[in-house]
Amino acid sequence: MPAEETVAPHPAPLKRDDIPGWFFGLDRAAFGHLLSTQSAAGTTGDILELGSYLGRSAVLLGDHLRPGERLTVCDLFDSEAGDADNAAEMAMSYRKTLTRSAFESNYLAFHSELPEIVQAPTSVLADGRIPAGSCRFVHVDASHLYEHVAGDIAVAKAALSEHGLVALDDYRSEHTPGVSAAVWEAVFTGGLRPVLLTPMKFYGTWGDTGATRQSLLEHDWRAAGYTVDEDTIAGQRVLRLNYQVKAPVRSTSRRLALDLLPPVATRATRRVLQTLRERRTI
Ligand SMILES: C[S@@+](CC[C@H](N)C(=O)[O-])C[C@H]1O[C@@H](n2cnc3c(N)ncnc32)[C@H](O)[C@@H]1O
Repeated sequence: MPAEETVAPHPAPLKRDDIPGWFFGLDRAAFGHLLSTQSAAGTTGDILELGSYLGRSAVLLGDHLRPGERLTVCDLFDSEAGDADNAAEMAMSYRKTLTRSAFESNYLAFHSELPEIVQAPTSVLADGRIPAGSCRFVHVDASHLYEHVAGDIAVAKAALSEHGLVALDDYRSEHTPGVSAAVWEAVFTGGLRPVLLTPMKFYGTWGDTGATRQSLLEHDWRAAGYTVDEDTIAGQRVLRLNYQVKAPVRSTSRRLALDLLPPVATRATRRVLQTLRERRTI
């Protein structure tokens, strides 16, 4: 008798990058640095993620769990949203691909145990099920609507221990003004202190920024291909990390031709090249 065929419902990802999502190199490096620095300093605590999608960022958070620490993720997955605006967000961006079982099989491709999963709107976490002060790191990456994000930030504040860190996604994207409003409101009226800004995420704390800031300054981000800048926002120093933009490499023959031509001819040649480029003929 032929062996019974079993069809895997979700092909297991081979590497972390195979998991669909919006969690890219720079923030992956920032999460890794911040979580490892906490561990090295002996800071213990649970990790909480609001909005996990198919597990791309949750898998990395799980990498940093140490004995006795717990990861909790909260996502609607395939359940209904609680209001029409959130339902519209879900329909536009996630419904076609997102199921809880896909999240679970992606997570289990890299870890032996699932995290605690709360399949519900993140607003349920306001009931205190995450013990106050129990977390060292919270990633907020769920709904983009102002009311929801403001609530998620309040959950993060209550969950975090004294110097715990929050990462807030999409704080500056054109299509997420509600997130920007909630984040900067938390800064100006809620005591949230910015520590690090990347193009995608705001990192901050309600505690002291000193140790985290120092560890970020000591790390050689440039060697890893990132730019480092500093800004002051209403008297608070904050670091900015971004990707280095690589200058286009010119071919040797073209560089040589431009170097050898007299300046007038070079300018004329550049103009011709520019025109041809604009007409997309080269
Ligand atoms: C941008 S995705 C998360 C991406 C994920 N962190 C990553 O890096 O790949 C947003 C997630 O938030 C979830 N979500 C949206 N609104 C929510 C709500 N009100 N409560 C819980 N989850 C929500 C969606 O189901 C989706 O999985």
